[in-house]
Amino acid sequence: MAPALVENPAPAEVEWQKKGLNKGHTHKEAFAQSAATTNYEGELQGTRGHAPAKYPHYLPVWETTTYPPLEVFEHYEHGKDADPSFSSLLKGATVVDLCANIGAEVKGVQLSKLDKAGKDELAAFVAKKKVVAFRDQDFADLPIQEALDFAEYYGPSHVHQASGAPKGFPGVHLVHRSAADTTVVDYFKTRTNSTTWHSDVTFEKQPPGTTFLYILDGPTAGGDTSFVNTAEAYNRLSPEFQKRLHGLKAVHSGHEQAAAARARESIVRREPIATAHPIVRTHPVTGEKALFVNQQFVRYIEGFKQEESDYLLKFLYDHLAYSQDLQARVKWAPGTVVVWDNRLTVHTAILDWQDGQRRHLARLTPQAERPYETPYVEAK
Ligand SMILES: [Fe+2]
Repeated sequence: MAPALVENPAPAEVEWQKKGLNKGHTHKEAFAQSAATTNYEGELQGTRGHAPAKYPHYLPVWETTTYPPLEVFEHYEHGKDADPSFSSLLKGATVVDLCANIGAEVKGVQLSKLDKAGKDELAAFVAKKKVVAFRDQDFADLPIQEALDFAEYYGPSHVHQASGAPKGFPGVHLVHRSAADTTVVDYFKTRTNSTTWHSDVTFEKQPPGTTFLYILDGPTAGGDTSFVNTAEAYNRLSPEFQKRLHGLKAVHSGHEQAAAARARESIVRREPIATAHPIVRTHPVTGEKALFVNQQFVRYIEGFKQEESDYLLKFLYDHLAYSQDLQARVKWAPGTVVVWDNRLTVHTAILDWQDGQRRHLARLTPQAERPYETPYVEAK
């Protein structure tokens, strides 16, 4: 029998193994759920004053099927085909900006009914606004496959290496905390806040672009999601500082997330990888340059000594975290679908409710292009 072809590991992977880095940047993992932390009986029947889950077919399971490495594919960016007036998407819609520099709320559009022109415009509109909350949507009530089909217009669904998924739909990533779950209360015994700025699965070779998250069940107050405009964060830097960032690459790692899943005896669907991406990436539709680092997944800057890397990364993380003037906080309501561009934002869940109300959301995560950089251009 012919020997199997073994692909040489990418340079970032080799560096990773050489350095043996396993830094504790992953406190997001403290919130992670597994079959052991999911109270299926309580979710189906109701528990201690909490109603049953509204969408039981969306309860997470951790099926043990394993997957080969993700295949590299040619991404087609539909946002490039959009009419810049958004005449199909926003016909009859009400649009209210959330903040001056990021975010919008839209009413009067049913995403699942968009035609091709509307879908193209959706990608471009979200890239322009960075994050958009669409109210009164029917996503949660569609057959799951239909919701997936909608999202896959933008790219193949990312199958997460460790998260729970609805039975039979590994391409749907679930965020779920059972009613009466005490994780949040327990978490604050040792932490002062729950902020975990990140963009999703950036350790992959082709991380997501246009990304969808819709609510199934949520607390009456709390559990908001906050976003930062990372393109505007780049624009805020001085020309000399911007120039220094160009050409640098940071290594993003999925190893710790997988290790944490194994440590809590949950599943790992695919062997984790680490990937080097440019620190300044260019958006294929808007042409904007955006900072592409996050402390959940980035471990070091290639070519820098550790102290140099830590110093520069800390500045960039602080810059994103402290810039309220680049941020928006999205409030969930039944029927809301939040769509963001994962290439132009970082986000964090806010775990501020401690009364045991269920929080249950589903994410559709089309993968996009491999992050790329274009040369520094002086601002006009
Ligand atoms: Fe996320």
